[in-house]
Amino acid sequence: MYPELQKELATFERRTPKSAESHKRNLKRIPLGVASNYRAYDPYPIFVKEGRGSHFRDLDGNDYLDHNLCFGALMAGHCHPAVMKAVEKRLSAGTMFGMPHDMEWQLAEEICDRFPVEMLRFGSSGTEATMHAIRLARAATGRDKIIKFEGGYHGLHDSALVSVKPHAPDFGDIHAPTSVSGGLGVPKASLANVPVATFNDLETVELRFRQNPGEIAAVILEPIMMNVGLCMPQPGFLEGLREMATKNGALLIFDEVKTGAKLGWGGASEYFGVKPDMICLAKSIGGGLPLAAFGASTTVMDLISQHKVFHGGTYNTNPVSMAAGLATFHEVLTRENYSHVEKLSQKLTDGYRTTVAKSGLQAYVASAGANGALMLYPKEVRNYRDWTTVDTDLWRHYWFGMVNRGVMPQPYWWDEQWTISVQHTEADIDQHLAAFADVAPALARAQHERTAEVVAH
Ligand SMILES: Cc1ncc(COP(=O)(O)O)c(C=O)c1O
Repeated sequence: MYPELQKELATFERRTPKSAESHKRNLKRIPLGVASNYRAYDPYPIFVKEGRGSHFRDLDGNDYLDHNLCFGALMAGHCHPAVMKAVEKRLSAGTMFGMPHDMEWQLAEEICDRFPVEMLRFGSSGTEATMHAIRLARAATGRDKIIKFEGGYHGLHDSALVSVKPHAPDFGDIHAPTSVSGGLGVPKASLANVPVATFNDLETVELRFRQNPGEIAAVILEPIMMNVGLCMPQPGFLEGLREMATKNGALLIFDEVKTGAKLGWGGASEYFGVKPDMICLAKSIGGGLPLAAFGASTTVMDLISQHKVFHGGTYNTNPVSMAAGLATFHEVLTRENYSHVEKLSQKLTDGYRTTVAKSGLQAYVASAGANGALMLYPKEVRNYRDWTTVDTDLWRHYWFGMVNRGVMPQPYWWDEQWTISVQHTEADIDQHLAAFADVAPALARAQHERTAEVVAH
């Protein structure tokens, strides 16, 4: 670890003793001391006290401008007034019934208006949405296999935990990546049922179709791969997938858990002009409460109506989440708010680019809709393997440096990206850019020295 990073880590530890203490306590009863592995990092994660609007406060009283926003699930920002009002109203009228109610068709109508689906079912998490979408695709085609992309993340069920973050020795040929288990406990059958392709490489997808004739039920992907920073589909890639899926009788599933709400009013299908067969939504559609949905054509969804595919869930359409969802669609995810976020995104992106150029940092800035990321690479990342070459110490220097200056620029981990909420302001973006301008020269120096060391060896 180089001295500048050590210095930032020491500052972090000086600023956050209560988080250290709480983490130590958590570790006794909770594996890694956190409720989701993504929340664990060294030396310990920041423990949160409260949030409002675009900011949150930790246990030590430090204030942070928040671009983590619960791993991108809060385009509404913290405690959005419209969401809070709807939730508070519902809280005193019963939180769970396990019975249908009138908010269901309202929200279903809203989603069918914006996304190319005719019917949908609700759930609480992105994992559920992709799990049910995959099962439906298998039922609709009578086939078992699903093509996914190396590095793509679609949640925690067995078909999704394949080649999420494989290590280099397990990669296999980039033209035919090996299906690698995402951890112990994933059955070998799941690996056999999930052939893997390379993002932005249509030939690898074609190969999988050729190798598994009449066996592929679906191709699942995030239209913008957002678990490798931010990796855009190259021109023609989504169109090519659409054509290939149709030609081979497979369904195209857009996992829009992140992109659905944050890319724009109509999600990725509107943004890119490519229509998938199924869509999975979660995160920001709930405005801060757990809400998810998966949808498709009536023909596909009728498999549930006909009792051929089973779907259920105790928490599905609980009135609190649904009230939050309706308020979110009506008052947060509006065209006006998308323009506001787009404007802030442009300002943030332009500002980062100016500082990157001025400091001489070898990096680029990727952005789309409410999301963006500082990508510490000399050239554009096009797939998972490109992304694995990042200098992780340099990235940690960036993240802790920003956090020590009161800006959480994105969730911890270099595979994530920032989110701009509808409650962020121009002044917030100025604060973010000022912190980056302060950190960037040291980053550039460190990068230069580390490159020189590598060359010398
Ligand atoms: C693209 C994508 N799909 C699915 C999921 C899983 O969602 P959840 O964590 O709500 O289960 C995530 C979560 O980060 C995601 O980013």
